[in-house]
Amino acid sequence: MTTARAHTNIALLKYWGKKNTELILPYNDSISLTLDHFYTDTTVDFVSSLTDDEILVDDQPLTGSGLKRAKRVLNLIREQSGIQENASVHSTNHVPTTAGLASSASAFAALAAAGSKAAGLDLSDKELSILARHGSGSASRSIFGGFVQWHAGHDSQSSHAQSIQSAVDWDINLITALVDTKKKKVSSTMGMQAVVKTSPFFPAWVKSAQADVEPMKTAILNKNLANLGTIAENNAMRMHATTFGAVPNFTYFQPQTLAILDAVRNIRKLGVECYSTVDAGPNVKIICASSNNELIMDKLATIINRNQLLVCKPGPGIKYL
Ligand code: PMV
Repeated sequence: MTTARAHTNIALLKYWGKKNTELILPYNDSISLTLDHFYTDTTVDFVSSLTDDEILVDDQPLTGSGLKRAKRVLNLIREQSGIQENASVHSTNHVPTTAGLASSASAFAALAAAGSKAAGLDLSDKELSILARHGSGSASRSIFGGFVQWHAGHDSQSSHAQSIQSAVDWDINLITALVDTKKKKVSSTMGMQAVVKTSPFFPAWVKSAQADVEPMKTAILNKNLANLGTIAENNAMRMHATTFGAVPNFTYFQPQTLAILDAVRNIRKLGVECYSTVDAGPNVKIICASSNNELIMDKLATIINRNQLLVCKPGPGIKYL
């Protein structure tokens, strides 16, 4: 029996579009920051008396596409280890479901780590990243702490994450503005499928996202918040532009999302470094130095309640408990 802890991450350069839906291979590299407070603890045991995998998330049996993905990861572990037994999986999310932060990244990273260890495998971080990717693309990045790059690659073995800067020793954090915490209407899988198939902006997105990679890495290594934030904000807006171009068109933005994006631009005009990023949902994450958190949160107070603002700091990679 093994327990592993994995933290969520937020993409500064987005993964948005699958080149291979079976293997979850992306069109472009992505870069993320792993976060501190939000994590998943998962315990896995392979038990001969079980007639099927038994997977509980926050004490509820996993169903639907989540179950399919978890079984895919467990089957790969069985293939690699030669183990035949079914698995008993208990997963606890310390990502408030209301936080609007992705729990799939931490969930599948923790499952890959705990499951492989419980099966007697001793995988490298790269191998764990490949395994976690089969559950959810963004999970490939949650194996590592701090700033992380997911290399798109060209096949399963070459598509994995790698650390850029694991110990973040400079002042950067995120303020998450929780616009709406209800389950989104268009899942990231559905959204990606739609833009890949129908958005004429998709090829331009892939080209510009890949072109962002080297400048973003340079900004991280130079600890340059202004460059990092500018590249991240533009990258996020271009990702969302693909949804406006889809047929039928759709958007993850809500009126309050746009109001916050606008407020962030205005605060920036006052000389305060802050930049927005938005995932496949209406919540806005504001990238800034922690020394400006209070000022920025005060400015946002006219748009959103203070208790809908959540500060997240850089966090660590996978751990065994
Ligand atoms: O890993 P998934 O299938 O939950 O997709 C994540 C997609 C985005 O959050 C929008 C971007 C990203 O790179 O995390």
